[in-house]
Amino acid sequence: ASFTDIIRTKRDARALSPGAIEAFVSGLADGSLPTEQAAALAMAIYLNGMDPIESAALTAAMANSGTRIDWGGEALGRPILDKHSTGGVGDKVSLMLAPILAACGGAVPMISGRGLGHTGGTLDKLSAIPGYDPFPGLDRFRAVVREVGCAIIGQTGDLAPADRRLYAIRDITGTIESTPLITASILSKKLAAGVGALVMDIKIGSGAFMPDVAAAEALGRAMAATGDALGLPIRCLVTDMNETLGSTAGNAIEVRETIDYLTGAAREPRLHACVIALAAEMLLVGGLADSRAGGAALAEAALASGAAADRFARMVAALGGPADLIERPDAYLATAPVVVAAPPARAGILRAVDGKAVGEALIDLGGGRRRIEDAIDPAVGFVRVAPIGTSVGPDRPLAMIHARTETAAREAAAALAAACAVGDTPPPERPVVHSRF
Ligand code: URA
Repeated sequence: ASFTDIIRTKRDARALSPGAIEAFVSGLADGSLPTEQAAALAMAIYLNGMDPIESAALTAAMANSGTRIDWGGEALGRPILDKHSTGGVGDKVSLMLAPILAACGGAVPMISGRGLGHTGGTLDKLSAIPGYDPFPGLDRFRAVVREVGCAIIGQTGDLAPADRRLYAIRDITGTIESTPLITASILSKKLAAGVGALVMDIKIGSGAFMPDVAAAEALGRAMAATGDALGLPIRCLVTDMNETLGSTAGNAIEVRETIDYLTGAAREPRLHACVIALAAEMLLVGGLADSRAGGAALAEAALASGAAADRFARMVAALGGPADLIERPDAYLATAPVVVAAPPARAGILRAVDGKAVGEALIDLGGGRRRIEDAIDPAVGFVRVAPIGTSVGPDRPLAMIHARTETAAREAAAALAAACAVGDTPPPERPVVHSRF
């Protein structure tokens, strides 16, 4: 059958054969499939979905479209673990989790992404570290994982190349928000990286892509089913993203918060709860702990002993960053020339935050991208972000704004004031972890 017939099949809501899916993926990877046809099929999949068998076949074919790292089974001697977040504002959890897991005996080969929409990207945060090479090549990536226990890099041309092309096509054709396409995109990269077990952090709330628990659980269950079919165990945590995670949002600024977190200088409680819940789940699924409580205790011990901070320092140095970043962050991390307070619209108790608006305000400061080719200003962002429930007013701003210019700072302050609802009564309690399966 011609590729046009394959498009017709999905246009008419029928299942694609394994051969049709293979033709799609190989044509994406080797460039022989015209972009128009790939886009048409992506839209047909978006509109008509895929059954579990098609979804697994698409994921497997994309994973096999480039190099698949084989860690040599037991040769590494450690379970190969990863965490993937659906994205949020101030979500720097990967920077903490990877070294914690490495310190607890896991191996974490993490492929991270750039910012997406209003959410930040781990890769952009790491790129704020001078010298850090997020594209070291697979040999160096493997060596760092073996030696340090963790490495966080960007998707290179070798891993799931079909995903790289399809993602770029989806990005401009309104076909990102499709469960089978998201599943294949995320899981193909994990499978190519040789991950043995995955924990998904599915974020919900005003700063997330998923609106509610039901939508998050539907995505998680679909991904877990595909993972099962392909021998990749997946656990899901649905976690809160109704406000900035932690006390900062930015790039160099979030690296600083990570250093403070790992050394124990400061640990914002909701961020800490999120990190520990994910670490415990990863340790459990990796067989390094026999209960969640045991996993949480191991993660806490890796922080308290300095072992996690040490792994972070070694990872940064091994990937080209400064060897003394943790000791002397000020010598390396960019700072912004303008720092101003963002006062609330009125004094009172911070009751709710429009997280998406906070993410957009960060992009407007220069801390994120509108277009793929935009440069990121690593220095700008928000520090001392007031958590929901804080009494804000003349003495307690919503955040300190770090900006390149006075004008940008003023605009960001207005945006934060508009994004924050202040009232007279305490807000309802919100759990950090909404559900787990
Ligand atoms: N992240 C990915 O890598 N792929 C998607 O499709 C969505 C988020």
